[in-house]
Amino acid sequence: GKVAVLMGGKSAERDISLMSGGGVLKALQSRGVDAHAFDPAERDLVELKREGFQRCFIALHGRFGEDGTVQGALELLGIPYTGSGVMASAISIDKVMTKRVWLAEGVPTPRYTLLRRGAYGDQDVGRLHADLGLPLIVKPAREGSSIGVAKVLDPKDMRAAVDAAAALDADVLCEQFIAGDEVTCPILGSGEGARALPVIRIVAPEGNYDYQNKYFTDDTQYLVPCGLPKGEEEAIQQLVVKAYRVLGCRGWGRIDVMIDGSTRKPYLLEINTSPGMTGHSLVPMSARAAGISYEDLCLQLLADAAL
Ligand code: DAL
Ligand code: MG
Repeated sequence: GKVAVLMGGKSAERDISLMSGGGVLKALQSRGVDAHAFDPAERDLVELKREGFQRCFIALHGRFGEDGTVQGALELLGIPYTGSGVMASAISIDKVMTKRVWLAEGVPTPRYTLLRRGAYGDQDVGRLHADLGLPLIVKPAREGSSIGVAKVLDPKDMRAAVDAAAALDADVLCEQFIAGDEVTCPILGSGEGARALPVIRIVAPEGNYDYQNKYFTDDTQYLVPCGLPKGEEEAIQQLVVKAYRVLGCRGWGRIDVMIDGSTRKPYLLEINTSPGMTGHSLVPMSARAAGISYEDLCLQLLADAAL
């Protein structure tokens, strides 16, 4: 039957989604799937039903796509879709809610303070570095691709960083910075069948794995095999599978992790329930190392589409 690749959308990650969706569309078509692009920013989702689409591959990132809203609409329309359901998507888009679930389940994540737009002042901002140390990370709670993220080294830059994040999201996550190795690990499958793919270690120019270095430069190194001791990689894989399961995720996901350089303890930063599928993206890279081609990955995700 007809498959819609949902791509574009109206989040700040629209351009990235168009790249992800373009790759997925081409891969599915190359394997004979009757796949068509569908941009929910341009067309009403009810048209999916009218036009006889039987499944959706969600290649949307960020709000109104990765956050449970589109998932809820597809539930109502009765059209199976790839990836996590409504609740897991809604929790996972929110880095603070994700941390609350992980902390309750014993999954290590960096210490944090939540500031709410309109409800913080200089005093709250001034306390951050005493509570969390320096440098510290300021992020909008519900963005992706490092949009609005700042690493603050000097307390005098704190207010501007918090205000900039608050312009993108009413919830601002201020987080302890873990110095050490930056890694990411994809997970495929659901429930007891969830499995981790190989860990990728990311070495970005000056440690800045930002929007530019994620997608538009070739200066970032991606190491897979990751070069960590076998036991360390396996411990991370076990931890991310647990972290994925406690959120109730389904289909696929990718969890970003920092390993403390001195204690070697891993800290989970966040989960992406609709990970990038661009030419620079990490899930395809890790899958490839496990012997799964981009095309096979897309077919497998589509085969797991559910309601
Ligand atoms: N948010 C981007 C698309 C990612 O995590 O891959
Ligand atoms: Mg993310």
